[in-house]
Amino acid sequence: MKHTQHHIQFKLNGNNTELAVHASDTLLTVLRDRLELKGTKPGCHEGECGACTVLIDGAPVNSCLYLAVNANGKEVTTIEGLQHADGKLDPVQESLVNNGAVQCGFCTSGMAMAIKGLVNEYEHKHQVPGTRKFENPSRDEIKKWLEGNLCRCTGYVKIIDAAETLFRD
Ligand code: FES
Ligand code: FES
Repeated sequence: MKHTQHHIQFKLNGNNTELAVHASDTLLTVLRDRLELKGTKPGCHEGECGACTVLIDGAPVNSCLYLAVNANGKEVTTIEGLQHADGKLDPVQESLVNNGAVQCGFCTSGMAMAIKGLVNEYEHKHQVPGTRKFENPSRDEIKKWLEGNLCRCTGYVKIIDAAETLFRD
């Protein structure tokens, strides 16, 4: 049977990227197996664990459920793109490290991307009218946001602390 290839173009970690994909290819597979970006982790492959979280146009998605063809024209950010061009860690990564929120690390890139998505969400949608400030999420809102990201090691407290620190400091 002939499998049709689809030509897609998207911005990946700030770089224009073009390739041909099959209609059924997931973004997770394309990132890891075609583009060699192994920081995005394959966990359940069913949208349950969040290990595969990346940002599409700044919002977190499970890349195991996201078809690569749908990335056409979008901006995709993976954990490899979170670090700044000068080599500095993103504040999200720094906060995870400083709060001791990393143990085995399998969930960490997904957690970092989900937390970055929360920062984006608040910066874009929760601006206090008439100011440049934005409202901060409560601890319960942070917990709810991260519900789709599972961690078998940390008990979550330090991960939530890491996210909360970003909004409180
Ligand atoms: S691997 Fe995608 S949600 Fe688990
Ligand atoms: S640090 Fe091991 S799964 Fe989260």
